[in-house]
Amino acid sequence: MDSVRTAELLAGLGQNRLAAYALTLNAADARELLRDVASIDSELLVQLQSALRCRSTVASDQLEPLPQVRRGEDAAKDAAARLLGERLLAEGKVAAFVVAGGQGSRLGASGPKGQFPVGAISGASLFQVFAEKLLHCGIKAGRAIPWCVMTSPENDAETQAFFREHAHFGLNPANIFFFQQGTLPALDDDGQLLLRTATSLFRSPDGHGGSLRALTSSGAFQELRKRGVEHIFYFQVDNPLVDMCDPVLLGWHLSEHSEFSSKVVPKRNAEEKVGVLARINGAAGVIEYSDLPAALRDSRDESGQLRFRAGNIAVHVLDCGFVERIASGSLQLPWHLARKEIACFDPTTGPMTRVGTKFELFIFDALPLAQGTFVMEVERSAEFSPVKNRSGADSVETCRRDSMELHAAWLERVGARIPRNPDGSLALSIEISPRTALGPEDLERYRDHVFPSGQDILL
Ligand code: UD1
Repeated sequence: MDSVRTAELLAGLGQNRLAAYALTLNAADARELLRDVASIDSELLVQLQSALRCRSTVASDQLEPLPQVRRGEDAAKDAAARLLGERLLAEGKVAAFVVAGGQGSRLGASGPKGQFPVGAISGASLFQVFAEKLLHCGIKAGRAIPWCVMTSPENDAETQAFFREHAHFGLNPANIFFFQQGTLPALDDDGQLLLRTATSLFRSPDGHGGSLRALTSSGAFQELRKRGVEHIFYFQVDNPLVDMCDPVLLGWHLSEHSEFSSKVVPKRNAEEKVGVLARINGAAGVIEYSDLPAALRDSRDESGQLRFRAGNIAVHVLDCGFVERIASGSLQLPWHLARKEIACFDPTTGPMTRVGTKFELFIFDALPLAQGTFVMEVERSAEFSPVKNRSGADSVETCRRDSMELHAAWLERVGARIPRNPDGSLALSIEISPRTALGPEDLERYRDHVFPSGQDILL
């Protein structure tokens, strides 16, 4: 009876191969599969199947560079924006949001990526750096800033345990909202669902674009709204240099009536693996590095700079009204398809790998749907050095080096003397905890201080 019910449900979803398989299952196995299949939304399945049939690509003539404001270009406007942003923070209208659901497979480390040690001397983890930045921002604002941490089904328990083991890095746990991102089924080329095991469907994370729906379905968003939050400061788990809840960005976001604001840095070179903010068919959007046609990627303007150089550092501010419209489904993000070998369970041959398609949503696809957008170019050295790879570019080594240079620059800005080698490189290791300083403005006590050589600097 259970196998018949499971088969009927599958047949109703057009999954005839699996329906036939369900009829071969014993009652307990059929019930288990039934529970899983019952959670598949039939409308969503149809959407994924049609996405499978029409893969869209961006044509070169649809892309143009996007105008942006450069931080520091107009000091008076930045100062006014800072005041506005500081007011938003003081009024409790801002929450921070980190997406930490990714698997960090390129880094080759096991466990949640946020546990990765990035502190050049202390070995502080990414999560610790973010938490302590938030702690200090909260002190400056005169009130705690709520923090949403999106995990995945694979790393949620470990992430939460890590926070508990470290006493939430000094933050009040009542101000941290953990929730898991959603998953999506994978399909074979005929639009048929794949199995992970004999009694469960194959699912994969729905990408950071699913984060807004996860934020609302978890109840965290409603709690933030109750507390008066109006803007979400969004960032990725891999960038410890993030200028946390930057009041200047928040202020510009507000004064420009933006629903979705973004920071960019000039691309290091044409090949750098960052998405690019551009005008796509007349609207602001991000084109992912893998989708940018090579001729455009390499094209330069009359000043010799890359035409498409606005590298996406994945730091955004989102208006809560806009988040509501995306999460409710009244605005739909497009699907990104990844066709690859998937380790799955075949009804006739058992465990095997076969080619299938995984689906993902990207947060930045919300950009063209926003009613107002704002883009600010910032200094890479001050705000962006992600840990993505085991070695080479964007590795822990480059990230530690960049953090040390940034911290040295903060101290030098207040006249402190740091030992350097004849070639200008640092002659020692240096790390400033976010508890001590978020920028040179917090380092006045080191004005004109001379740091001795041969002794690392940990402040
Ligand atoms: C990403 C951006 C790219 C940007 C770059 C900046 C995408 C597709 N591209 O590239 O435009 O220039 O960062 O560093 O995002 N995540 C989840 N759940 C998921 C997938 C990812 O939470 O299902 C999180 C990860 O934990 C990470 C972030 O999203 O914090 C980025 O994911 P990743 O796949 O590493 O993106 P990149 O290819 O580095």
